[in-house]
Amino acid sequence: MRFEAKTGHAAKQKTACLVLPVYSSGALPASTKSVNAATNGLIANLLEDGDIEGKVGDALLVKPPQNQGQSLLAGRILLIGCGDRKNFGRKQYRKAIRVAFGALRKTKLKDAVCFLNGETARGTNAYRRARIAVEVWHHGAYRYTTTKTNDKTKPIVLTSIGLTANPSQATQIRKGIKHGDAAGKGMNISRELGNLPANLCTPSHLVKEARRIARGNAKLHVEVLNEADMKKLGMGALLSVTAGTIEPAKLIVLRYNGAARSRKPVALVGKGVTFDSGGISLKPGAAMDEMKFDMCGAATVIGVFAAIALLKPSLNLVGVIPACENLPSSKATKPGDVVTAMSGKTIEILNTDAEGRLILADALTYVQKFKPELIIDMATLTGACLVALGRYRSGLLSNSNKLANALLKAGDAADDPAWRLPLDDEYKALLKTNFADLQNIGGRDAGTITAGAFLAEFVGEYDWAHLDIAGTAWLTGGRKGSTGRPIPLLLEYLLNRH
Ligand code: BES
Ligand code: MN
Ligand code: ZN
Repeated sequence: MRFEAKTGHAAKQKTACLVLPVYSSGALPASTKSVNAATNGLIANLLEDGDIEGKVGDALLVKPPQNQGQSLLAGRILLIGCGDRKNFGRKQYRKAIRVAFGALRKTKLKDAVCFLNGETARGTNAYRRARIAVEVWHHGAYRYTTTKTNDKTKPIVLTSIGLTANPSQATQIRKGIKHGDAAGKGMNISRELGNLPANLCTPSHLVKEARRIARGNAKLHVEVLNEADMKKLGMGALLSVTAGTIEPAKLIVLRYNGAARSRKPVALVGKGVTFDSGGISLKPGAAMDEMKFDMCGAATVIGVFAAIALLKPSLNLVGVIPACENLPSSKATKPGDVVTAMSGKTIEILNTDAEGRLILADALTYVQKFKPELIIDMATLTGACLVALGRYRSGLLSNSNKLANALLKAGDAADDPAWRLPLDDEYKALLKTNFADLQNIGGRDAGTITAGAFLAEFVGEYDWAHLDIAGTAWLTGGRKGSTGRPIPLLLEYLLNRH
């Protein structure tokens, strides 16, 4: 899909389809008004007759009659309801765009020019509206088909969408288009990895995907450590998780060098458990298939790097992905086993299903060799996070108020929100054991916090934040599938840092 900023009046656009806003109350917006005038009041009549009410998400595709559309250069008009003009904000805008693009995808029209983003929507500016529009396009255009042989979805005919721009905003809109395009593509790469079944999306497949993204990009490098390398480095925590499977574990290191070597990188670490059965502490059967999504932290890192590879911003980034399966077998780690992490700390594994924190412990230790400015990890870490925050906000835990606040702000700006949970020392006490430096579970209470407290033991003095995306990385039920979150939050943060 090609997106471009389009200047000029609505009635003068030469396009297969004009996408125009209508409100459920109030006068016609300027763009719609000019087309209404050029069509002898066609749109006012449709509203009056009740063909479209103008509620948010209403849509009506019309072909202007020859005699009415003589001065119009567009073949079709797609009217989109934006609701009450007084209440038109970011959410309403998002929905209006989603409906508009959804309707366009179903047609055989080749191109369109959209005037929805020309409307003032509370909580947005021209940049944001363009970025949202392009992100929404990519989100809606994605279909999972890889393992289906009977997919009947017709291919999309539309190849180009113009977004209206008055000349003073054209630069901002182009920037919004660029960022939205990269974010949308990165999210769809991440979603595809999440949706792929675990028999295809193995640690080795994640390696392939990381290499594919880096290919042909001189600023991007991938390095992969195998189990022998991990053993040499003393990664006893990571190796204990992969002990029960014959599928080889990988530690994937991605580097993006977009700024001077002297600039410290931002480090992203993503949990890559390609299937989490729980191990010897086996999970119950219900919904266990969803544990193929337990690598969504890893997919987030790959998606962010894919977006960064397109945008080439001036920053340095390092990504570390510990990837493995968590399965039971005679070689699997047992409850009560004590292992030594790369940091030297000993861990008593009381529940082999608390495996994410184990692989992250070694990844968080390893990433420190790059002397990062700060570390952010993403992980589908605790079911408790779903209980606490549901599927709307990701959990955020951090040892730095500055970093936490910046990430919260980025999440709100990108409609990918998070919520901070505390990390007082009192919670760390719950990880004490008689048999090792710490145990890998904290009991029933405050499950998301004790998981965070465990990770905090492995970040040294670094500024660090942990995003628990157990509730936000995928949807269940009829819309079961990966969401691509928290890529919008992370891109918002990374692109606005300097
Ligand atoms: N990957 C799971 C967390 C999870 C579970 C995410 C369900 C989304 C939905 C993680 O490895 C896990 O099993 N965590 C345990 C920790 C417990 C044993 C302390 C959990 O949340 O039950
Ligand atoms: Mn688990
Ligand atoms: Zn897990």
